[in-house]
Amino acid sequence: MFNLLVKMSSEQKTFLTSVKEAMESYFATDQRRINHALQVSLYTGELLAYVDADPLVTLTAAYLHDIGIHESERKHGSSSGKWQEIEGPPIAREMLSDLGAEAAFIEDVAEIIANHHTRDGVNSPEFRVIWDADALVNFAEVMPSKNEEQKENILQDHMATEAGFRIASRIFITDIESHRRCLKGYRPTFSP
Ligand SMILES: [Fe+2]
Repeated sequence: MFNLLVKMSSEQKTFLTSVKEAMESYFATDQRRINHALQVSLYTGELLAYVDADPLVTLTAAYLHDIGIHESERKHGSSSGKWQEIEGPPIAREMLSDLGAEAAFIEDVAEIIANHHTRDGVNSPEFRVIWDADALVNFAEVMPSKNEEQKENILQDHMATEAGFRIASRIFITDIESHRRCLKGYRPTFSP
């Protein structure tokens, strides 16, 4: 499940497996949300090979970033990003505390969840990896209706890390000339 280039102790891997299981049991029969979280965690693992970010915080946030979605729908009748940012952190805090996580770690994860729909929401590599991993999954739905130039513009505007931009270009820009131009034209747009 985890990228071989990401170094973690067996204790950390066991903890991450518990986080994954807690997420799966929380989402229960909502297989769509479970699959989304798992896909985001896979891209997160890939990005962690290129971006110097804390793997435990980042992968935990990958599993839990959308954990507020059911409460958003139940309380507010909406799964909009803003409600998710409000409803997600308390659920994640309780889950992680039950799993014995330390307070500072829990707050690092909660901060990412509380901002994960806000561009530049947290100025950290962990946040930028989650931002890009989420986009890599979500863009699979958006991109088929766009032409190559529109795709380039979306990626240039949206992706927060160069690795995320390159992976997204490889996946979504299939015309070889457009792909080359896209990679050459990359300009970082997020805060450093
Ligand atoms: Fe997501």
